[in-house]
Amino acid sequence: MRLTPGPARGPDLDDVDLFDLDLYTGGDPHPVWDVMRRQAPLHHQVLPDGREFWSVTRYDDVCRVLGDHREFTSERGTVPTHLGTDDVAAGVLLTSTDPPRHTEVRRPLGVKLTARAVKSWEDSVRRTIAAFLEPALDGEPFDLAERALLLPAMVTGPLLGIPEKDWAELVQLTAMVTAPSDPHFLEGSEAATLAIAHHELVSYVRDWVRARRRTGFEDDSLLHHLMNVRPGGAALSDEEIALDGYSILLGANVTTPHTVSGTVHALIERPEQFDKAQADPTLIPNLVEEGLRWTSAACNFMRYAVDDVEIAGGTVPARGAVVAWIGSANRDASRFPDPHTFDLTRANAKRHVAFGFGPHFCIGAPLARLTLRVFFEELLQRFGSIDLAGEPQHLRSYFIAGMTHLPISAQKRRTP
Ligand code: HEM
Repeated sequence: MRLTPGPARGPDLDDVDLFDLDLYTGGDPHPVWDVMRRQAPLHHQVLPDGREFWSVTRYDDVCRVLGDHREFTSERGTVPTHLGTDDVAAGVLLTSTDPPRHTEVRRPLGVKLTARAVKSWEDSVRRTIAAFLEPALDGEPFDLAERALLLPAMVTGPLLGIPEKDWAELVQLTAMVTAPSDPHFLEGSEAATLAIAHHELVSYVRDWVRARRRTGFEDDSLLHHLMNVRPGGAALSDEEIALDGYSILLGANVTTPHTVSGTVHALIERPEQFDKAQADPTLIPNLVEEGLRWTSAACNFMRYAVDDVEIAGGTVPARGAVVAWIGSANRDASRFPDPHTFDLTRANAKRHVAFGFGPHFCIGAPLARLTLRVFFEELLQRFGSIDLAGEPQHLRSYFIAGMTHLPISAQKRRTP
């Protein structure tokens, strides 16, 4: 998705199709959302097949929809690619469960993913990232977006307990779930792509758990930890562990790479920001936050209204689907002055909602922040400058804002 908006065109909202995949590959969604925030903060769209959804685009409304499960439930599904099909894993899958059950499902995972817990991974994350960046300095064009798809697997694979030989396949499957229409991932129809990938991913984790039970092998990996926890006194079933593993694989694999590519692209377009970060590495944590705001890799999440609800000057009827556009909230000028300017010194960059808001706030945020910080520390230490070595290509998805190709050429830094 284009992250630096082109010249504003003031689109006619009657013609806007927010599920038009071309808008996210060759189009320019930000001027559309700018107009929506101003003129139609609650927007209603009916798709040609009769499915309908409401959209909120302002920061406060996005927080309300994501944060208040009494008004907006997650139990019927939260991913807009599944609009109209109720989630069969409600009450079990972390993402499709409301409190109080959600709190029980989330707790055993959370203890292993706190900022303090993931800190112990920093050295290994740094080694992984150093090895990842090395080939970019051999003088050849380096497709950062394509290669970065493997990065979360390299980081979270060992944490989860997943062997390296399986990473490429799992990365492909998670990409199929989140961008089933992108030609890089499509297998047959969009529905078939989704079904195949979902089934394969859940089966993978289920088989992993069964193999562990058979062999009795133990380690301190996250999945193994889930085999031993007893929330409320009872062990998790293999199905529950499989769905937790599925959530983590999905959450990790499909977001961090696009934040990396989107932030690097922003720095290529603005060499003065690159120079600033290089001159003062203490700015890197804020560069990460601005990069998260800027890219908003999870472009939206969905909820369903429990009852009729008044929001953004209109009414969503009971059972209506509401898409909370995170990418738009993070460019809301009432929260982020001059929102379409990428500024690594932005004072309140950390107030972004790129990790969501409320009970489902991204459980992997500490790991994502650590990975991104280490990534930019290592990159700025090694790279003197970065140029584009070809046209970026955007992911064909209205759910994940990302790139499939970002060819770069990097020059070695002379005096680190
Ligand atoms: C830049 C990186 C990331 C971004 C932008 C991101 C974004 C998000 C967002 C917006 C949500 C909220 C979903 C909702 O409200 O329904 C979420 C939830 C989640 N994320 Fe992330 N995420 C990132 C990295 C990760 C990583 C590294 C992991 C795994 C270690 C992860 C695992 C999850 C899980 C399991 C949930 C569901 C939490 C729940 O439902 O309680 N994410 N993420």
